Amino acid sequence: MPARRSHRCQDLDVHAVAAECDVRRLATGLAGRVSKTYEVLLLPSGWRFPVGPDTPVLRAAKAAGLRLPSSCRNGSCRACLCKMASGTVTYRIEWPGVASDEQADGWVLPCVAHAESDLVLLVPQAERLAPAEPAVRQQLTGARR
Ligand code: FES
Repeated sequence: MPARRSHRCQDLDVHAVAAECDVRRLATGLAGRVSKTYEVLLLPSGWRFPVGPDTPVLRAAKAAGLRLPSSCRNGSCRACLCKMASGTVTYRIEWPGVASDEQADGWVLPCVAHAESDLVLLVPQAERLAPAEPAVRQQLTGARR
């Protein structure tokens, strides 16, 4: 006959199992949220920058100090339209301004495109952004006490 355990020990076991379940649920949730970073290679410049899946390619380029052609930045004007030599992107807007046959030919809109893999983009108009000028202190003018 198995030894009877006290109610206190049984309660501790129940709490330990519940805590372990909480930890597993938390770990599973965090694993689903860990996002991978991809690399974008611009041609013909050869410049590279990282992009996470939650950041549009155009914004990631700017964060890396690179300017790609753009205007509306909402996927409608096509000013940023460029050819993707390799990689996969996805759009989170319902109607990106690039037709499905154009997408099949490799045309993408970096302003609303989210990387799903490393990308190679043909963007001959890409430029390096000038480094920010240091702030200049100016004398205040006007009445002072
Ligand atoms: S900037 Fe207008 S579609 Fe990309």
